[in-house]
Amino acid sequence: MRFRTFVAGLCALFPVVLFPGSAASAKTPVTARHGMVVAQEPIAADVGLAVLKHGGNAVDAAVAVGFALAVTHPAAGNIGGGGFLLVRLANGKSHFVDFREAAPGGASRNMYIGPDGKPTKDSLFGWRASGVPGSVKGFSEAYKKWGTKKWAELLAPAVNLARNGFTVDQALASEMLGSASTLRNDPESNRIFLRDGKPYQAGETFRQPELASTLERIATKGADDFYDGETARKLAAAMAAHGGLITEADLKNYRAIERKPLEGAYHGYEIITAPPPSAGGLGILQMLGILNGMGFGSDGPNSVKAVHYTAEAMRRFYADRSKYLGDPAYYDVPVRQLLSPQYLAERRASINPAQATPAAEIQPGLILAAAGVHQRESSETTHFNVVDAQGNAVAVTYTINNSFGSGITVPGLGFLLNDEMDDFAAKPGSPNLFGLIGADADAIQPGKRPLSSMNPTIVTRDGKLFMAVGAPGGSRITTGVLQVILDVVDFHMNAQDAVDLPRFHDQWKPDILYLQKGFNPDVEAALVKMGYKTKPINDVGRVEAIVVRNGLLEGGTESRHNGKVAGY
Ligand code: DON
Repeated sequence: MRFRTFVAGLCALFPVVLFPGSAASAKTPVTARHGMVVAQEPIAADVGLAVLKHGGNAVDAAVAVGFALAVTHPAAGNIGGGGFLLVRLANGKSHFVDFREAAPGGASRNMYIGPDGKPTKDSLFGWRASGVPGSVKGFSEAYKKWGTKKWAELLAPAVNLARNGFTVDQALASEMLGSASTLRNDPESNRIFLRDGKPYQAGETFRQPELASTLERIATKGADDFYDGETARKLAAAMAAHGGLITEADLKNYRAIERKPLEGAYHGYEIITAPPPSAGGLGILQMLGILNGMGFGSDGPNSVKAVHYTAEAMRRFYADRSKYLGDPAYYDVPVRQLLSPQYLAERRASINPAQATPAAEIQPGLILAAAGVHQRESSETTHFNVVDAQGNAVAVTYTINNSFGSGITVPGLGFLLNDEMDDFAAKPGSPNLFGLIGADADAIQPGKRPLSSMNPTIVTRDGKLFMAVGAPGGSRITTGVLQVILDVVDFHMNAQDAVDLPRFHDQWKPDILYLQKGFNPDVEAALVKMGYKTKPINDVGRVEAIVVRNGLLEGGTESRHNGKVAGY
């Protein structure tokens, strides 16, 4: 309170532009010379670091971290979900592995619409909420293409952590307790994650023997076990027994898809990011394209001017997202038009320098009614970055969607299933968990992949690796990652300061500008005067970044959370 008064006093003396958003953390970033892993859970980050130190490359380490997080960070790390892996090899070539879940063969367009015509909760909770998991296939494909170590060696730490257990920290204890209402609806989840009503405390050991056995089979038999072996049979049988849709055929037919990453230029940097079915990568390029060259940052980060122009770019992207973005195998996504310089210039020209453009005036929009955003705070996904001594870089975002996914653990297999079906537009104009609205482009069809906000991104300069970045956070992933890129590229912040700076989020509908805690109240007041309706929000993504500067790797993990930068 006293600080606010002090700030207000200062701002009365100086124009707001001289006193932009709250100061960054000023925490010194961790640096390393050879290799680095930045992840949202410390044990898994250390697993990756050990792989790097023992001569594994960034893909090897990413596989090991991915499986370790499935054990140590069950709210989001997974083998029952899916995601995206972006790799830029030291030879300058980039590849993108799409291991997003796919709608089961038995899925149908209106499967989540109840008799009253309203969307049900079945896309979020229970056996019918899951798409066909992709994580095991995704890591396996990346490993087959670029890995160098033995597959079983990369899974060994995860098997060990599941079999022998690890010490629960405060973050995990609160996550499990925080999702108790979801987890206790399923007997297996209640038994494993809530210990049948005696929740784990920090300091206790958490063992997951069923998960250890599943991981052991994947380690010895490969991804085939998950898609065409014992795990597949058990998963399909449990689905059939509980009214779920995933069959043995769905698992057998599942493919991880290598796609060409989206690429674009911004202020002398090259941005390499996620193509559809990610909406996020296109969003990053579109918003950077709108901001490009307009001097939006001349007053500094989180100044009124910077927030205004960036929020206006966000609104225009989210309007396009609602109409044009979906799985490219099922919908002709007009990527080139949405990123054409002429289109971006038109979008830029529609921004009023002095006033917020009301959401209702922004086109295109098939929107029929103003949407309410679901303000759930417990949702989770996870992101990690790895850079190795050769200069290979990997950025992975993967998820089971909501925290602890659908809340269902497959009996005898020990892993949680995703509720990724909620990322489809269950009903045109009805907001999903993240308040996002979609239509035909993201309608449910068998085999289709739901639209995602996840956007692992790599930035280069003069053909050299400059940054790897990404985040969880639902619709706020894209806006969070955008801001950290701007903070590093335009505002010259180090990786730590950039991820710590309070952020903002605007997704067009609802017509609200969300401001993260710690935002300068005077900037907020000025934005309200310009027509923005503001609301506080806890997180705008939870961004993890590695920046390469003067030959050193510089890591940033949010001080607001308990991630780890592990380097050597
Ligand atoms: O793919 C997506 O966009 C969402 N399923 C991501 C969910 C998420 O980030 C939840 N986390 N905080």
